[in-house]
Amino acid sequence: MFFKTLSGRFLLLSFLFVMVAEVLLFVPSVSNFRLGYLQDRLELAQLATLALLATPDDMVAPELADELLKNAEVLNIVLRRDAVRELVLAMPMSKPISQTFDLRDPGFFGPIKDSLICAFGEPGNVIRVIGQPVKDAGIQIEIVMNEAPVKAAMLEYSRNVFFLSLVVSLVTGGLLFLSLQALITRPITKVISSMSQFRNNPEDASNVIKPDASISELREAETALHDMQLQLIASLRQKERLASLGGAVSKVSHDLRNILTTTQILADRLEMSEDPKVQKMAPKLLNSLSRGINLCERTLTFGKADEPEPEIRSVGLKAIVDDVIENDALRETENVQLISTVAHDTQISADPEQMFRVLTNLIRNARQAIEGTGKLGIVSISADLRGGGADIIVRDTGPGLPEKAREFLFQPFQGGARRGGTGLGLAIAAELVRGHGGILELVETSEAGTSFRIFLPDGEK
Ligand SMILES: Nc1ncnc2c1ncn2[C@@H]1O[C@H](COP(=O)(O)OP(=O)(O)OP(=O)(O)O)[C@@H](O)[C@H]1O
Ligand SMILES: [Mg+2]
Repeated sequence: MFFKTLSGRFLLLSFLFVMVAEVLLFVPSVSNFRLGYLQDRLELAQLATLALLATPDDMVAPELADELLKNAEVLNIVLRRDAVRELVLAMPMSKPISQTFDLRDPGFFGPIKDSLICAFGEPGNVIRVIGQPVKDAGIQIEIVMNEAPVKAAMLEYSRNVFFLSLVVSLVTGGLLFLSLQALITRPITKVISSMSQFRNNPEDASNVIKPDASISELREAETALHDMQLQLIASLRQKERLASLGGAVSKVSHDLRNILTTTQILADRLEMSEDPKVQKMAPKLLNSLSRGINLCERTLTFGKADEPEPEIRSVGLKAIVDDVIENDALRETENVQLISTVAHDTQISADPEQMFRVLTNLIRNARQAIEGTGKLGIVSISADLRGGGADIIVRDTGPGLPEKAREFLFQPFQGGARRGGTGLGLAIAAELVRGHGGILELVETSEAGTSFRIFLPDGEK
């Protein structure tokens, strides 16, 4: 609504204030007008009496007396020239005199009071007015007249003053409105729109306000907003950088920990150098180490939180699954049995390194869940190539996903419900599968166990 805006309020208030000022001036000016009107009548009356001076006995014919009185718009005139001499013009009156007004020493409030009496008095009154003759042509002049013409003239004058006041108020209000628009409203609107644009997209530096207001207070507000926006952008960028770095570092250290744990176990075995298995273990150690180094190098090259693009090619799934199982089996947990039913000719389109990480995370989780129960359990990996891609199922006979893990499934740091876990494994696995254009999903989870499904589409994504 217009009158709720700053400019609208200003327009309304300035209009009202000018009207109030006009009303305060109105009463004295109307009373002044009335005084002037009566004074004019006295002067006209004085002129009329001068005709009497031309006659020897200060008398004129009744017809001439009538005419002179009509010209002066009065009923009676008495001009006292000195203590003894009076000039008198008179015509019969229809009504008695109801009020006498003395204009010789009116003061300030006297005429105001008189004009109020005149405005609100009975219509058609006959009044007497006493004044001082002009040019010292006598001691006192007195007229009797009808009040109706005075009233009519006052009304006309008031109407004119009212319309003039209206015009003055509107013009003043309009001018104030326009100045306010230019000086205050427009800069404030600019500040507000800059704020909301900035709120919608705080990263965009082009939304930062450019201070240019001519009013110093508004200029200060714009400058303060400008500085605040720049600071916010800088700290947002800093935060973004830190978040990227934090994400990357967490992910790297997470999977590096898995790989290095494997390497450590292998290294432990190597220390017992007499063991005939050393020959067999050595290549695995190298394999694990190169995985770790590879991962670090790729993360460092990309330097951001997102996983690098997968290098998708056709690879044998069985080799990857066997690799994961073999690495996991090194932990020598007798409670858990890992079973793969993946056929040796199962070819999938995937980045083998990343698929190794996905399966490692899922199988590790399943194994850890079973170990947590202290009972025997089985983790099985199966694959199905029907339906335009590969369906890989990792199923376990563990206790099922805890409530928290279900609620925040695949959300980094949120879903971890295992002591010593970071809650990143499933988030990483899901992100890597997504990078292949595939889906990682929970098929089912209950007290009888849990199964996850990895779907990988055929060919390059
Ligand atoms: N197969 C499963 N059976 C039961 N619970 C599981 C299974 N897989 C995951 N979970 C639960 O989901 C949580 C999240 O798993 P996620 O791999 O994301 O994190 P984590 O294993 O706790 O830590 P880490 O980051 O070391 O892998 C686990 O803490 C665990 O409680
Ligand atoms: Mg895990």
